[in-house]
Amino acid sequence: MKAKLGPAKTIRGLIRILRGRPAIPPSLADNELLQVILRRRSVRAFTAQPIPEDAFAAILEAGRLAPCTVNLQMWTFAVFDDARWRQVFGRPIPFHGQRAVIVISDSHRYRSVLDEFRDYPLTEYTLAVMNASLAAMNMNIAAEAQGISSVMLSETGRSGILDAKYLKGKLNLPDGTVPLMTIVFGYARGAYPPMPPKLPMEHILLDGEYRQPDPAAMQSWFEQMIAGFNASHPGFSFQSQLNLYHGKIEQAEIDLHEMVFSPRVETGGEE
Ligand SMILES: Cc1cc2nc3c(=O)[nH]c(=O)nc-3n(C[C@H](O)[C@H](O)[C@H](O)COP(=O)(O)O)c2cc1C
Repeated sequence: MKAKLGPAKTIRGLIRILRGRPAIPPSLADNELLQVILRRRSVRAFTAQPIPEDAFAAILEAGRLAPCTVNLQMWTFAVFDDARWRQVFGRPIPFHGQRAVIVISDSHRYRSVLDEFRDYPLTEYTLAVMNASLAAMNMNIAAEAQGISSVMLSETGRSGILDAKYLKGKLNLPDGTVPLMTIVFGYARGAYPPMPPKLPMEHILLDGEYRQPDPAAMQSWFEQMIAGFNASHPGFSFQSQLNLYHGKIEQAEIDLHEMVFSPRVETGGEE
């Protein structure tokens, strides 16, 4: 399908987006944690209100205590206020957030006592990514629970996995570490954006046999994605955004391959 829509499909897509609601059983409507999880949105506009130190400390603590494979805690959190971000990157935190955490998958630290995955770099990397991402989500929810909004970034502003090599150099990180994403935190400026199009539950559940994609449902989702992008990025085309990703992903593929596999090749024969 083309990444371009006529006016009728754009309007239809936007109406569908605006109709989207989390499905929560009435019996659980008062559950505070569920409310926090379901109301969370990626927020991309923040006020200048600072985040109190104790609130930020609680966010980091939620990351530290996240579940992880064999309790290996294969993560590092690089923490920033705006001054520090400017010092390192020469620009403000993306979207003028007040705090940022770069979540780094880290299989360097635990190796000082254990070298279990030396010959299995892909498995080790995947586990580290899974676990660091769970820590990221814990931080995200801990922020939301305090009325602090956030957005995770893997691309915007050279902030994540697509610029992992650049970030690794900027932060002077050792081999075995890969910057995955930046989480930007702040108080939301204005109302939360509408929920972006989520696939219906019956299309993502495997309850018996894997269900092949439903062409109509997938087309509807894609139309809503384009309509939503067009509405929030006037003057930019969805296709130009895809082209941008394409270029960056091509380079990231090379960089990541080097970061994940090359250090192992270089050190593999030493012991
Ligand atoms: C790992 C990860 C990376 C993301 N990278 C970006 C990004 O670079 N730029 C951006 O604007 N949003 C980014 N997002 C936010 C997603 O676009 C957003 O989560 C998605 O559209 C769903 O919207 P929601 O978070 O409001 O449910 C990222 C989200 C995740 C989880």
